[in-house]
Amino acid sequence: MSSRPASDVLTVAIDGPAASGKSTVALGLARRLGLALVDSGSMYRGVTLLAVERGVDLEDEPALVEIACELTGSFQLELKDGETLRVFIGEREVTEEIRMPVVGDAVSIVSEIPRVREEMVCLQRRMASDRSAVVEGRDIGTTVLPDASLKIYLEAPEQERASRRLLELQARGLEISREKVASEIEKRDRIDSSREVSPLRPAPDAVLLDTSESTAAEVEDMIIGLLADRGLID
Ligand code: DC
Repeated sequence: MSSRPASDVLTVAIDGPAASGKSTVALGLARRLGLALVDSGSMYRGVTLLAVERGVDLEDEPALVEIACELTGSFQLELKDGETLRVFIGEREVTEEIRMPVVGDAVSIVSEIPRVREEMVCLQRRMASDRSAVVEGRDIGTTVLPDASLKIYLEAPEQERASRRLLELQARGLEISREKVASEIEKRDRIDSSREVSPLRPAPDAVLLDTSESTAAEVEDMIIGLLADRGLID
């Protein structure tokens, strides 16, 4: 199996709750299949970072929408061989800043706003158009790319996801308690699943994969197997 896309444009939608392994698996797949990578969460995080830095009230919807519009003209993702995905707003790299707990705490509130979502969905569709890509988020299979070639929904129990996120934050040198991480994940899942516009949920035709017993490489192998079985890659 050569793992090359069999048709001109291949889009793999990967959705799931916080810390379900989406980013790692999406990055691995993009690398292995030679596809572009669109991380939609980093866009909502970018809007939130600018809002927090500028001291914008999280209830000031017009100001947040204005930041979202600004971001659509300045947001960029860069994936080079052997690197993680780098995130830029204009010339400024924000790869690390958008992962700070202060952004994680506020991002679900910002991403509940329908006009913010409209702007982000346009940006996501633009970044995924006319090229083969792995697109990762919460509503990719349901709203952003309902015609994606393959839709995957990753899940894992909340405790498992909290442990993973804790290790990830500790590896980046952040001191944070397990309780804080678990409660942030629980709160984000609750807001993401219950919002009115594009709530977090699997598309009816998504393949559900539980990642708790598998490594990221094994999950990638499963997805590559699904793509091959469906004749989407050679
Ligand atoms: O995947 P992530 O943790 O970087 O996402 C951060 C937040 O962004 C998530 O809690 C909700 C929001 N989000 C969204 O509403 N829709 C998406 N497609 C992606 C992320």
